[in-house]
Amino acid sequence: MTAQEQTIQARVHIQRYNPDVDRKPYLQTFDVPVPQGMTILDALAYIKAEIDGSVTFRRSCRHAICGSCAVNVNGKNMLACNTPLRTVLTKKNEVTIRPLSFQPIIKDLVVDRSAFWEQYLKVKPWLIPPENSGPKEYRVTPEEVKALNRAETCIMCGACYASCQVVAMNRQYIGPHALLKAFLRVLDPRDSAPAERLELVSGTDGVFRCHTIFNCIDACPKNLNPTEAIETLRKLTQRRLAFEKEREERQKTL
Ligand code: F3S
Repeated sequence: MTAQEQTIQARVHIQRYNPDVDRKPYLQTFDVPVPQGMTILDALAYIKAEIDGSVTFRRSCRHAICGSCAVNVNGKNMLACNTPLRTVLTKKNEVTIRPLSFQPIIKDLVVDRSAFWEQYLKVKPWLIPPENSGPKEYRVTPEEVKALNRAETCIMCGACYASCQVVAMNRQYIGPHALLKAFLRVLDPRDSAPAERLELVSGTDGVFRCHTIFNCIDACPKNLNPTEAIETLRKLTQRRLAFEKEREERQKTL
């Protein structure tokens, strides 16, 4: 067995808070054996199963698909399920795990994401097809898919939202997660309401509220670029009616 494959010991500091009994959050430390390949989520599951069953966190798919397990690790937001624990340990083999910021804590690492989803619904995240479109296949070009810049792969984990200082100051701000979804719909040739969407995001809590802080890019576990998407939306708001006309023409050839 090589030195790399050996199990090491880590000290995992977890922010605990039960609003029913605690006056404020505090850190609790757990000693965890870390075999090669153990993820942060594996470590949380180990702690819950073997040390303290009251430690509370969200998880579901374990494959970076559901977006449930986003947490703050040593000050950076990330998915617990696809981050090897060893990659976030300090030189002293320690790590600190806290819940995502700017949202009320329900318990320990679980936050109330109501505001996040309310902002998301504001942008009408669903596709609005052309009237009388009927069931048929719509073919878009590779260039049109490329222009989406992989925005369709967003898993709504909230890592970007909880890293944005504008969200911290103003909970009415639509937020990078919802603006990225608005970008996806506006750029999708199959969507027939780009002008309405651009009008919606051009309000006081939309794209012009973004201060181009870039935290959302650093935080995204899927390497998406909400900042660039917001910039694109900003430009399109200046010509939203012309853009809708172009969309109508394009949809005749879909
Ligand atoms: Fe926030 Fe990203 Fe803009 S972090 S301010 S949405 S660039």
